[in-house]
Amino acid sequence: MRKHTYALGGAGLLLSVSMLAIPAQELTGELPDPPEFAAQSEPIFVSVGDIQEFKALPEYHEPDWVTSKYVDAGTLPPVAERLPKEPLVYKTANMPDGIGVYGDTMRHVIGGRPEGWNYIGGQAQGWGGIDIGLSECLTRTGPLFMIKAEELEPLPNLAKGWEWSEDGKQLTMHLVEGAKWSDGDAFDTEDVMFYWDDHIMDPNVSPLNGGTPETFGQGTTLEAIDAYTIKWTFQEAFPTQYLYAMAYGTFCPGPSHILKPEHPKYSDNTYEQYKNAFPPEYMNIPVMGAWVPVEYRPDDIIVMRRNPYYWKVDENGNQLPYLNEMHYRLSTWTDRDVQAVAGSGDFSNLEQAESYVEALRRSAEDSAPARLQFGARTIGYALQMNLSGNGWGEPDDRAQSVRDLNRNLDFRKAVSIALDRQRLGESLVRGPFTAIYPGGLYAGTTYYDKASTVYYPFNLEAANGLLDGLGLADTDANGVRNFPDGGADVEITLLANSDYGTDTNLAEGVMAQLEPLGLRVIANFQSGTARDDMAAAGQFDWQVARQGAELVSVVQGTAALAPTGPRIHTFHRANADGELDLLPFEEELVALVNKFVTTSDNAERADIMKQYQRIFTENVYSVGLTQYPGALIINKRFANIPAGSPIMMFNWAEDNIIRERVFVPEDRQGSYELHPETLPGEPGGAGPV
Ligand code: GLA
Repeated sequence: MRKHTYALGGAGLLLSVSMLAIPAQELTGELPDPPEFAAQSEPIFVSVGDIQEFKALPEYHEPDWVTSKYVDAGTLPPVAERLPKEPLVYKTANMPDGIGVYGDTMRHVIGGRPEGWNYIGGQAQGWGGIDIGLSECLTRTGPLFMIKAEELEPLPNLAKGWEWSEDGKQLTMHLVEGAKWSDGDAFDTEDVMFYWDDHIMDPNVSPLNGGTPETFGQGTTLEAIDAYTIKWTFQEAFPTQYLYAMAYGTFCPGPSHILKPEHPKYSDNTYEQYKNAFPPEYMNIPVMGAWVPVEYRPDDIIVMRRNPYYWKVDENGNQLPYLNEMHYRLSTWTDRDVQAVAGSGDFSNLEQAESYVEALRRSAEDSAPARLQFGARTIGYALQMNLSGNGWGEPDDRAQSVRDLNRNLDFRKAVSIALDRQRLGESLVRGPFTAIYPGGLYAGTTYYDKASTVYYPFNLEAANGLLDGLGLADTDANGVRNFPDGGADVEITLLANSDYGTDTNLAEGVMAQLEPLGLRVIANFQSGTARDDMAAAGQFDWQVARQGAELVSVVQGTAALAPTGPRIHTFHRANADGELDLLPFEEELVALVNKFVTTSDNAERADIMKQYQRIFTENVYSVGLTQYPGALIINKRFANIPAGSPIMMFNWAEDNIIRERVFVPEDRQGSYELHPETLPGEPGGAGPV
């Protein structure tokens, strides 16, 4: 039997560590500025009221074939009756190409695969904008990239307006009145409360994208006042921050009339059965989004048709969306880039740096079917160590020994300075794209402060010294360090998402670069859904991960910047008893994040994030690897794509570009619709009708 009895913290060990430790100041160094890389287009900054408002219009329109084939035939009520009393109206002045025309398809290509349609029950739909498009949420943040900084606040969406009580502890929200699910059922507070009571507040359910009670602040309550009014009660005054948590992906209610009968509280189902009650084959799931899934062919395609009850219009009263159909080809993420550039696909977030040179070359040609536009450096990767020392993910002895190492600062520092970030970045792509990323907030984003960023440059010798100091010697001379006292080789598994070449390339780079440090890092490469499940269950020693919006915008996903709750953080969650064993510096990060959430004073916020950045990087909370810009690739036939749309800021570009108001001018429309002149059928029934 192998011996894994290593634990840090014994008095003798601490003594020897401090004697051998290299003084911290010798390990830090000057952080090089990222290479200049100008974004290729800038947003036109506007106010929320310039983009949209809620109001009744004198008349409404829809595609002619909807009227003639459905309304006139008596199978669908007239458009005015399908719309809410006051629909969301997009203002023409903010539409880059103005009022659109109906028709055509946006052909997405994605690398993910659908688990099913129960988003709030925790199922993934395959990503790449599918769930973003199906979900409508209380508020909306994607388009905020074009909102004036001093007016930054989430856009009203399903919540069309709200008021704060005088003491700021209560927030009353008004839902769009008379909005309907895509099958015609009323959307109201029953849907909202079903999401809150039976998903957020039910610890047995983990909605996709990770909404938990702490996402909305500890002790927060929500109640329905009437069919269209909800009231939040917070512990703090004016926590405007939570308006961001009410956007995608943490407050997008599901259709309670369909889901409720399957939920364990209202049925004999187990939670697992509930989660899986709506498999990908289930067609016409009611949504509030602009398109409804009507066809699914495994490993081939998901087709969506326009939602006849969609509750948004343009200023002429044309019911949106303009595009009749959406395709999601089930392929690979790399193929998404290739097809978008070639014109057989329509859209890609160019984010895998390995494809940049080729994509740029092809799109520079005059005949190129797609435009390619780079934004800021908001794609970032980190090596994250599992910091739970008390059982999250049920580690065996070996894994527990690794957890103990992970929780040691000298160990994290050693790993960090054993990595040559310059080389890691260049192994993906040469040129001015990648930048050395020490971890924490990204250079170039609002709250980043270089002076508060502690950088430990590449220094393999010092890294080896640190591990020697921890008593990790290669006692059996096989090139791999052993745990102290005749322990086994230090073997660490590295989880990464095999759906993305960039993820596995970076993971392989990390593995290779840590060999001279005497650590045996073993690949655990899993495809998307399996990886996500293992990550969420804490079944990993280390992982290489592409990071979320919280490190870009800070205001979106804020609660996840530190373990502010038992199930909220990426690499440190509670054990089965709900206990979270935070390290002292993590407690500080949690306090800072909680403070950030409850102040709206900009100077104070900036100061809080400086402290956050310093504590994060000083303690190598995660090992930053590289950060680089992404580019939006979109076929040239599409109109109304906002200038300066980033592929990732508050949300992904699929939300940022406001797809429901994107259109194709008549003379450029292609004949891509697979189910022309059809609408979604009965929930659970066969295909479109
Ligand atoms: C995946 C893709 C991203 C984006 C998101 C949207 O993660 O890699 O580019 O499309 O899905 O959910």
